[in-house]
Amino acid sequence: MRRDDNGHTLEFQQRIDRGDKIEPQDWMPESYRQALQRQMAQHAHSEYVGMLPEGRWITRAPSLHRKCILLAKVQDEAGHAQYLYSALESLGLSREQAYGQLLSGQAKYLNIFNYPALSWADVGMIGWLTDGAAIVNQVPLSRSSYGPYARAMLRICQEESFHHRQGFDLVRKLVEGSPDQREMAQEALNRWWWPTVMVFGPPDEDSVHSQRSMRWGIKLYSNDTLRQKFIDQTVPQIHHLGLSVPDEHLRFNQETGHYEIGLIDWDEFQRVIQGNGQCNRDRIAARRHAWESGAWVREAAACYAHKQAARLTERQGEQNV
Ligand code: 3HC
Repeated sequence: MRRDDNGHTLEFQQRIDRGDKIEPQDWMPESYRQALQRQMAQHAHSEYVGMLPEGRWITRAPSLHRKCILLAKVQDEAGHAQYLYSALESLGLSREQAYGQLLSGQAKYLNIFNYPALSWADVGMIGWLTDGAAIVNQVPLSRSSYGPYARAMLRICQEESFHHRQGFDLVRKLVEGSPDQREMAQEALNRWWWPTVMVFGPPDEDSVHSQRSMRWGIKLYSNDTLRQKFIDQTVPQIHHLGLSVPDEHLRFNQETGHYEIGLIDWDEFQRVIQGNGQCNRDRIAARRHAWESGAWVREAAACYAHKQAARLTERQGEQNV
């Protein structure tokens, strides 16, 4: 195979440029595999940890109707993590290895899940804003170059649309309610707006992985491009609800047709993703507890699978006699 100066095969790059999907059995440069593993693992962990902030509201949902919706949503997030951990296995990273990376702090997960959900309105903000941001980020990923990742995104995005819708609906009900409920919604928006804007990652000039990931079709658009798209589509929704964006510098630029926002606190972002946010330690402790207390389930499942395999071999032996 011919190789360019960077050691990547030209044929591989040409396949990506043509829009071919790369499948698990295909040859791929080791650096492509590692870049995919890093992004997909961060993505899987985000879904897995993302259940925690709103999960604690399941027992406190204000009605049976809201409880059912929230239960379904949190279960969906667990399912998303499962698809992605399975897709990661196709790249040679086992679940044990992936969880190990999360629990040791080696692998990151989205900054946003290190903030606490303090009120019922926060459940709405997570659905409306966080899942709204996830949709903006993930719809393009359904065209990513790695087949299993792209296919997982198709299903995930359909479910995220329901999450986004229910979040908006929850917040709408609050703003149409009593003055206290309206205030609760605005207070929650004030806390979730900036962390959500940060979800798209550091500014393009500081993004270490973007260029290579975009060349390989692992991600399709830059961090700032997707952040702008999210802001342009969400600010009118906020205004429609009669809420205000907690940013005194926000303005609509008539010439560019885009909203411009104030300065993002990137120091806070770095603090949070380095493990020093409000809830980092609690989140990892909760996942560690789940992993350790689920050991007997994994052992029982492995034992059952082993017995089934032994029975199958026995039956095949009998048939061959
Ligand atoms: N939170 C935590 N870490 C982040 C981050 C964020 N929001 N954005 C960037 N980072 C980290 C990167 O992981 C990287 O760290 P590393 O070098 O130690 O791995 C560093 O900051 C530099 O950032 P880059 O811009 O170079 O990183 P990427 O090119 O990978 O871009 C990304 C970051 C845009 C988040 C990209 O990885 C991506 O598109 N990931 C897939 C989307 C994803 O993870 N979605 C999670 C959705 S969770 C969810 O939907 C649950 C909800 O529904 C409740």
